[in-house]
Amino acid sequence: MPILRDLIFWLSTKKAFTNPIARTGMRLGFAKRFIAGETMEDGLRAAAELNAAGRLVIMNRLGEFVSDRREAEEVCASYCQMLQEISRRKVNGSISIKPTQLGLTFAPEFCRELTLRVVRQAGALSNFVEVDMESSETVDATVELFEAVRRQHENIGLAVQSYLYRSEKDLLRLKALHPKIRLVKGAYREPASVAYPKKRQVDENYVKLMRMLFGNGFWPAIATHDEKMINLAKQIVREQPGLDARWEFQMIYGVGRPLQEKLVREGYRLRIYVPYGTEWLPYFMRRLSERPANMWFVAKSILTGG
Ligand code: FDA
Repeated sequence: MPILRDLIFWLSTKKAFTNPIARTGMRLGFAKRFIAGETMEDGLRAAAELNAAGRLVIMNRLGEFVSDRREAEEVCASYCQMLQEISRRKVNGSISIKPTQLGLTFAPEFCRELTLRVVRQAGALSNFVEVDMESSETVDATVELFEAVRRQHENIGLAVQSYLYRSEKDLLRLKALHPKIRLVKGAYREPASVAYPKKRQVDENYVKLMRMLFGNGFWPAIATHDEKMINLAKQIVREQPGLDARWEFQMIYGVGRPLQEKLVREGYRLRIYVPYGTEWLPYFMRRLSERPANMWFVAKSILTGG
């Protein structure tokens, strides 16, 4: 499986492979398995459906590694507009931003200014902003950005990846801020110098970090489709009464639907990450790499034209 995963990551960098996917994904419909659509309206429609099915949402406008101030400003404005739409339409949900989409890699100060703008807008509308964690070379700057904004505003949370060796230290550093932490396994291709190479090690670290999050002043968001991790979270909560009642499960749009339904039926708080926008290819490729079997529905759609 890791070999197939590496192969998909490698193919993601080859235009001959990605161009047909980018060209046909929305038209043939296979991209819609993981992406709500290309417009904000598509995202809001999916959010309304998920709310009606008892799930909260986190809206994410797709895009990453923006290298132009005007584009970053435009992304910021679009997040502010999304927050207004969430409020106006009474959507039960928040948003998630990617720092590199707001200029983190080329202008960190500017990125902080834009992040503050989004967080203040969210605050004015009694809403919340989560920050995605991206590839490892951006983690230092992302943690710094998060700390700076969190010191001024309570309505910001951060994703932390269990595949990184450093994540335990990051949590210890952030603990005093009592932040909302979205615990994920990690979706990027990382070298063994920074990340556990084996799935078993990533899972073990997930368990360790999850235990840290519960009962240590954090506000935990357990973001996974791994039933073993989900069952362990349920067990921790059963055995440790009096934990922060705001804790929640999170899952990705289009992944683990039967598990989503089960958690809602059981009365757990579940938030679904709803991505939308035209820049969906890198996100889509990460979803394919997580489960190489996903390649089959893409190949079938392209070959049969539907
Ligand atoms: P694991 O990979 O072990 O999968 C468990 C089971 O879930 C699989 O056996 C399969 O059945 C199912 N599954 C998982 N992925 C699937 C897929 N793509 N298609 C079909 N089935 C699938 N990452 C990151 O680096 N930074 C971030 O900010 C975020 N943000 C984020 C938000 C939310 C709400 C979630 C749920 C996840 C993320 N991630 C993320 C992604 C995360 O790091 C990870 O890559 C995926 O969640 C897959 O890992 P699992 O925890 O599901 O476990």
